[in-house]
Amino acid sequence: MAASTKRRAATKFSGFTGEPGPGDVVIIGAGLAGLFTALKLAPLPVTVIAAAPLGEGASSMWAQGGIAAAVGEGDSTAKHAADTIEAGAGIVDPDIAQLVAEEGPDRIRDLLAYGVPFDRDLEGHYILSKEAAHSEKRVVRVSGDAAGAAIMQALIAAVRATPSIRVLEGYEADDLIVANDRVEGVRLIRPTALGNGRYAFVPAAAVVVATGGVGALFALTTNPSYAKGEALAMAARAGAVIADPEFVQFHPTAIDAGIDPAPLATEALRGEGATLVNSNGERFMLAIDPRGELAPRDVVARAVYNELNAGRGVFLDCRTAIADFEKEYPTVWGHCQRAGIDPSKDLIPVAPAEHYHMGGIAADANGRTSLTGLWAVGEVASTGLHGANRLASNSLLEAVVFGARVANDVRGLLPHDRVGHFVVPHRIPGSGRAADTASRREAIDRLRAIMTRYAGVQRSGKGLKTALSELKVLSAAVVNDRVLSNMLLAAQLITAAALLRKESRGGHYRTDYPNANPALQKRTFITLADLEAINEKPKKSHCEPPTLAPCGT
Ligand code: SIN
Repeated sequence: MAASTKRRAATKFSGFTGEPGPGDVVIIGAGLAGLFTALKLAPLPVTVIAAAPLGEGASSMWAQGGIAAAVGEGDSTAKHAADTIEAGAGIVDPDIAQLVAEEGPDRIRDLLAYGVPFDRDLEGHYILSKEAAHSEKRVVRVSGDAAGAAIMQALIAAVRATPSIRVLEGYEADDLIVANDRVEGVRLIRPTALGNGRYAFVPAAAVVVATGGVGALFALTTNPSYAKGEALAMAARAGAVIADPEFVQFHPTAIDAGIDPAPLATEALRGEGATLVNSNGERFMLAIDPRGELAPRDVVARAVYNELNAGRGVFLDCRTAIADFEKEYPTVWGHCQRAGIDPSKDLIPVAPAEHYHMGGIAADANGRTSLTGLWAVGEVASTGLHGANRLASNSLLEAVVFGARVANDVRGLLPHDRVGHFVVPHRIPGSGRAADTASRREAIDRLRAIMTRYAGVQRSGKGLKTALSELKVLSAAVVNDRVLSNMLLAAQLITAAALLRKESRGGHYRTDYPNANPALQKRTFITLADLEAINEKPKKSHCEPPTLAPCGT
C-alpha cells in the first residue's frame, strides 16, 4: 500500500490508535481557516482534528455575506484597509489591515482555483455586495447568501482529495501538551466518551489552532454549538497570551424564533434596503444614526437591544426591498421557512446575538503565538486586524490570508523543532474556583445565561463582577470535565478583560463608562496568571488595561 493511501485509510477512523505519523502538523479545527491552512501545507503531512464530521461544526459553513476583497472597479486595498481601521474603533493594527487587504485578491484567486463558484456577471466580473461600514461594494459572494457553504464544500472536496491530509472526525482537543518549553502535541477526547478518561495523546511537529469563536458561551448566538472558546482556555493554561478578549461582536439581526443556535438574517438584506421596525411600526434607526440600518454593527445591535428591553419587538422588513427573496437569499429564505415565516409577506422577528469574537490567542502576522510550537489562525486568533469591531465579511478573508501565512511560516520552520515565537509588546495582569451541584447541561445553560446577561451587548462593572463570581462558583464545581472547564475559563477571560476596560469602544459597551477614553486606545493582553490575580484580588482590578503589567503585583 502506498504511503498516501495508508494515510487516507486512517481517516476512516474506527481504527484510530492515537498515533499520527511523527512529524505531522496538527491542526485543531476544520472550518475555513483550518482546511485552508492544511491545503496550503500540502504535501507536508497534516492531521486535522474535527469535532464533528467535516462541514458540520464550523461557523464558516454558515457564513452568508461572503468575503470582503478589493476586487471591484474603483476600489483599492488602501480603501479596504481604511474601512477596516475605521470599523475597529481605534485599535486595529494598520500594518495588519493593509497586508490583509493586499493579499485578499490573491486568496480569492486561490479559492477560485479550488473550485469556489463566486457569483459573476455575463462579462465575468464579480457581483459584489455592500455591507455596513464598507465604502465600496466589496463583498464577493456565492449564490447570493451561500458563500460560506459553497466555499467549505469546495475546500472539503479538495481536502478529501489531498493524500497528505488526514482528518480525524469526532474527536475534540481539550488540552495542549507542553514539554521542553514548547507545545509538543494535543490531548484528544471523544465528546461521547466524556468523563470516562479515554484520552488520545497526539504528538505534533507544530500545532495550529483554528477552532473558531466563542458563540456557545452565550445564550443567543449565530455560531454552531462547537464554538465553545475552548482553545482560548487551552492556550491560556499552557501560558499563552490572550489578546482583546473583551471585544465580542453581536449581530443585530439574528432571527428570533426560539431556535438555538439562532439563524442569521444577513446584513446584505439591509444593504439592499431592508429596514428595521419596532412593534409600533417605527423605523427607529434613523433617529439614532444618520446611516440608519447601515450604521456600524455595534450601534445597530445596541439599538435593537434597547428596543427589545423597552418591551417593543423588533423586526426586519424585507417585503419591498427584496424582489425575489427565495432566489436572491436562499439561505435566509430556508431559515424563515423553518420558522414559519414568509419574508416576502411577513416581518422577520430579530434580536442581537453573539456572532464573532474579535479577541483570541495573541498572534503575529504569521499566526505565531507567544508559545513556541503553537500557531493560531482564523477567529480564534487575535492579530490586531479587527480591533474593537470587525468589519463585515472580513472574517472569511482573515481565515484565508492567515491560513496561507501560517502554512508558509510552518513550512519554513520545519523540521527545526525550536522556533522563535511572537513577543507580545506589553501585557496586562490578572484564577477561580467554588461549588455547584448542577448537572453539566444546567451548568452550560447557566454559563450562557450569565454571559448574555452580564457580558453581552451592554455591560457594567457591577454586572461583570457578578458574572466573574458566578463563573468562579460554576468552575469550582466542575469535576473531571476539561471541556466544561475550558468553556468556563474562556468566559472568565472575556469577562475579566471587559471589567478591566473602563470605557466603551466598538463591540464593548459599558453603561457605567459609555464613552471611549482616548487613554485606553490600546489593545488588551492578558494571561491566566493575570486572571488569577484579578479573581483573587478583586479590589485591585481597577487598574487600566493598557498599563496593567505592574498592577496587582
Ligand atoms: C452577515 O452576512 O450579515 C454576516 C457577515 C459577517 O459577519 O461578516
